[in-house]
Amino acid sequence: MSRMLKLLFASSLAIPALAFCGGHTYLDTRAEGEVPVSTFGYIGTQGPVLWAQLNQTANALCSNGTRQSPINLTPNGTTYVNGTHVHLQLPAVPKGAVFENLGSTVEVVMTGLGSSLALDGTSYNMTQFHFHHPAEHLDNNVSLPLEMHMVFAGSSQEMAVVGIHVDLVDSPGFELLETVFSSIYNIPTPGSTTVTKELHFHEMHEILDAGEFRRYTGSLTTPPCTEGVKWLVSTQKLSLSRQTFEAAQDIIGFNARFPQNNPGEPNLLSLVHT
Ligand SMILES: *[C@@H]1O[C@H](CO)[C@@H](O)[C@H](O)[C@H]1NC(C)=O
Ligand SMILES: *[C@@H]1O[C@H](CO)[C@@H](O)[C@H](O)[C@H]1NC(C)=O
Ligand SMILES: *[C@@H]1O[C@H](CO)[C@@H](O)[C@H](O)[C@H]1NC(C)=O
Ligand SMILES: *[C@@H]1O[C@H](CO)[C@@H](O)[C@H](O)[C@H]1NC(C)=O
Ligand SMILES: *[C@@H]1O[C@H](CO)[C@@H](O)[C@H](O)[C@H]1NC(C)=O
Repeated sequence: MSRMLKLLFASSLAIPALAFCGGHTYLDTRAEGEVPVSTFGYIGTQGPVLWAQLNQTANALCSNGTRQSPINLTPNGTTYVNGTHVHLQLPAVPKGAVFENLGSTVEVVMTGLGSSLALDGTSYNMTQFHFHHPAEHLDNNVSLPLEMHMVFAGSSQEMAVVGIHVDLVDSPGFELLETVFSSIYNIPTPGSTTVTKELHFHEMHEILDAGEFRRYTGSLTTPPCTEGVKWLVSTQKLSLSRQTFEAAQDIIGFNARFPQNNPGEPNLLSLVHT
């Protein structure tokens, strides 16, 4: 074991509070008013290569799971589903929604606001959506500037995530994204929270319906890297103005997990030093 790994193991034993906080995930029910600031990160010893070391019990799948996300989506390895066959309900949110800086991402809390997904006879409610920079899923080896993840939970905590790539334009981009990111100045630091303006999803919904979804079963792309997550990554792209993106980028920072091995193949981290 390297010196650095030894240090990490020692510190994870010595500071159980760290391990506990590291257990904060998108699956947790949050206390009223609490922003669940993440203890994992994307750079250095907090980064994805060492996520399992932050909490060896809770995060084991990050280094030994064999169906991890994100992946490189190639035409061959992917099942395509017509957009009109994915039943999304995305009602407007006239009063706006809570928008939080978790340190690891910025997230709009959607619990109780009526957005849902029906898939394979199971119904899911949207709990939140958040962003990764750069995009996590590769489109045939290519990454884009941003990826939006809409996270849905079923009645037994089963998870489905809709992923949408975002490209940059010189004109104003999608209304939903421009609206959400117009409030990002209010949440510059981890733990800060605000409320967005009125949210409308119809423009995005139309775009999703007109395309296809690339479908596979993978994992959360953040600790604890829980598997069995149904992924639907749209072939369509949303757009965001360069100007808005630059402001968002300063606050989101770098937060993309590296592309994982193809589903069913060994975890890349389990291949290190073997
Ligand atoms: C991953 O590691 C955990 C903890 O050591 C273990 O319980 C689990 O069975 C392992 N899973 C796989 C797929 O190897
Ligand atoms: C993808 O499938 C095509 C047609 O079946 C095949 O010719 C090609 O080699 C495959 N590519 C990869 C990277 O597997
Ligand atoms: C993607 O990258 C792999 C590995 O470098 C390469 O073999 C493959 O040809 C690339 N595919 C495309 C479409 O560029
Ligand atoms: C979704 O939310 C509605 C309204 O709050 C609730 O009645 C329903 O049971 C929820 N469904 C799931 C799968 O959690
Ligand atoms: C999806 O299905 C609709 C209705 O059957 C059809 O009009 C549309 O062309 C299909 N879209 C794609 C991308 O195949």
